[in-house]
Order: sequence, then C-alpha cells, then structure tokens
Amino acid sequence: MASFDAAARTFVRAHGTTLVDTAGHEVFDAISSVWTTVHGHGHPAIVAAIARQARELDHVTALGADNPVAEELAARLCALTRCAHVMFAGDGASAIEAALKMAVQYWQNVGEPQRTRFVRLRDAYHGDTAGAMAVSDIALFKERFAAITVDSLLYDDVETALERDDVAAIIVEPIVQAAAGMRIVPKERYAMLRGPRTPLLIVDEIATGFGRTGTMFAFEQLALDPDIVALGKGLSGGTLPLSATLASERVYEAFLGSYGEARHFCHGHSYAGNPIACAAALASLHLFTSEETLETVARTDAALDTVLAPLAVHPLVGEVRRRGLMIGIEVAAEGIAAFDAPTPAWRIANELYARGHFTRPIGATLQLVPPLVASLPELHSFVDALVAALDSVSP
Ligand SMILES: Cc1ncc(COP(=O)(O)O)c(C=O)c1O
Repeated sequence: MASFDAAARTFVRAHGTTLVDTAGHEVFDAISSVWTTVHGHGHPAIVAAIARQARELDHVTALGADNPVAEELAARLCALTRCAHVMFAGDGASAIEAALKMAVQYWQNVGEPQRTRFVRLRDAYHGDTAGAMAVSDIALFKERFAAITVDSLLYDDVETALERDDVAAIIVEPIVQAAAGMRIVPKERYAMLRGPRTPLLIVDEIATGFGRTGTMFAFEQLALDPDIVALGKGLSGGTLPLSATLASERVYEAFLGSYGEARHFCHGHSYAGNPIACAAALASLHLFTSEETLETVARTDAALDTVLAPLAVHPLVGEVRRRGLMIGIEVAAEGIAAFDAPTPAWRIANELYARGHFTRPIGATLQLVPPLVASLPELHSFVDALVAALDSVSP
C-alpha cells in the first residue's frame, strides 16, 4: 500500500469497453475489470433491469424465504449447466466456501464422514477466504495463512486420489487457470475425471464462465459432468456482486430429511439471491441470445491469432497463452528494467496505461481478457500499444 498511487488509477465513469479516470483519460478495459465485465460497462439493457428491479423489490432475505427473480435465474442456470439446484452468494470465494462445505456435509449425510479432504490442481486459485485458500496452490496467496487453512492434496497422482477413501472432492478450474497467469491446463489432465468416480467433482467456472473461453462454460469443452459448479464474476454481466454454487440432484437429495434429522445445509449470506443482482444476471443472460454474444466471441476467437501475431515474435515476449478471449502475454522480464515500477511487467503496464490501455500484470504475465464485445480494432490497438510499450523499454 505504501507504494500504491491511487491517483494514477481512480476511475469515475465507464461505458462499453472504456474506463474514464479522474484526469478524464479514457482507457480500454483490457482485463474486463478482472474478468467480470461481459457485454461492456453500462449496457442499457442491464442498467434498465437493475433500475426496474430496484423499484419493484430491492432486497429480501433468502433465508427461509424466496423471491421470483432468484427462482427464475436459478432455473436458467440449471438449464445451462445441467445442474439441479442453486445456492446464491456474493463473491466467487463465497461460492467456493459453500461448495467445499457442501461436499464435506454430503459425505456426512450419506454415511462416509471420513471423506473430508480435497484435491487441488497445481497452480490452482479459488479465492482469498480460508477454505478457498486451502484448495488453492499459489504460495504467494496462501503460504503465510497456513494457521487458518487446512491441508489439501495435489492432483498430480489423480489415480491414487480417486481411490482414497478420505477424499471428499476434487476441485478444478476448467482449461484456464486465470490467476496463475492464464495458464492453460492440457485437456488430457481432466480425462480421469470423466465417467464414474466416487469423490465429488467441483468445477470452478468463476473466471472462465459466461463465454470467456469460447463456450458458455469451459467444462463443456472437457465433457465433464460436475457434481458442484461455482459461478461468479460474469454472472451478473459484471455489474453487481453475485455468485452461485450449483449442485447436482445427487448432492441435493442427500440434504433432504425431516427437521430432526438435521441433514440440511446450515449456510447462508445476508444478500444471497438479491433480486437486483439476479435481475442484472437475467438481463445479461438474455443478451447472450439477443446480441448473439457467443457468435461474436467465435468471430473474435478466429481472428485473434492474427491480431496477436506481432507479440508472438517480439523479442521481449516469452510466450503468448490463449484459450478463447483469455490471453496471457508473458514478457521476458530479465530483458526489461523495472525502474520506478514494482516489476518489469508493471513498467510495461504503466506504459500501456499511458497509451490508453488498462491491464494488470500477474508476475511477468500481462493479461488481455477483454469484454466479450471488444471489437477487432480495439484488440489491434491494444497489441499495437503493447508493441510500442515494449519497444520503448528495449535496451
Ligand atoms: C477461478 C477463480 N475462482 C474463484 C475466484 C474468487 O472470486 P472472487 O474474487 O469473486 O472472490 C477467482 C478470482 O479471481 C478465480 O479466478
């Protein structure tokens, strides 16, 4: 915090793919405000849905109560994911906490209470709360909090993990590990998770969901049949905090019983199922159809290799990783002096900002994860600006 300069990046307005800072400087939101914005900022259809819902029913608890907007959204999400039931929360990490607790209690309810452990992928990231950290793998984010995180198992020997009788669930990010710097997990790594298995499978679609990898959800490309799916970020179109933990019928049924049996899931948040956030999500889902968003993504996807070509051959770029519209550009940090920036990649990000593009490095990786509606000229402009930024720091 001591070196964070808020004045350099304070945003006061946004429209479409553009953010406007306090100096009136307009920048392209090249990271979709950390993978949240889907149809662009301030989309009129979502803004109208939010305003309409705020007038009708702003909030009501979902604890022992219900509202029709959350019901409608739950039905839509189940139809899209082939899950059966939905539990709403606010941030992605909250959806992960619910998923982990659901898995542990599932095994208690079906008579295998010793199944309490989780298996995580190498380089996994699932959020910053205690449970989410426990199943994450990136040392920087969890190491110092060992006192409040339980141990999880690494996925490397998945065959053994699948045979153990103490594993509650395996949790995976499908295809792209965004927080690890847009690391692409080979599809074969998920092969053992297809077909019959005893531990539950939790798929974390918080970063990859809602079209970013080319399909509505990345797990569709892996032919996985998850027991639990976590959604967040783009769920509300990137407008309001809303997340969801979706469960299969098998999981849900294990929680049914008479009151005295206490099989129910004791878990809830004040704003779960907030009608305004759910209305925004419904409007966002509607836009996927009315604006043919996935068709736009497919066209952009097809053009992106050409758009990114100048980076692939730049001497200060180590690797360009991509699936759909999730792109990681690893810079050759050893060839770039950081000067007064925290790291070489931050220096490039600062140069990019001055040239009208807002991104945020992860280690040596610069991200390009644009809103799904970003145009090819905007993406070309990002690449041109990045090449110019790299050229400007070339020794
Ligand atoms: C795959 C994944 N899961 C979970 C989270 C946590 O979501 P949130 O930041 O909304 O708590 C993130 C955030 O980046 C993520 O990338």
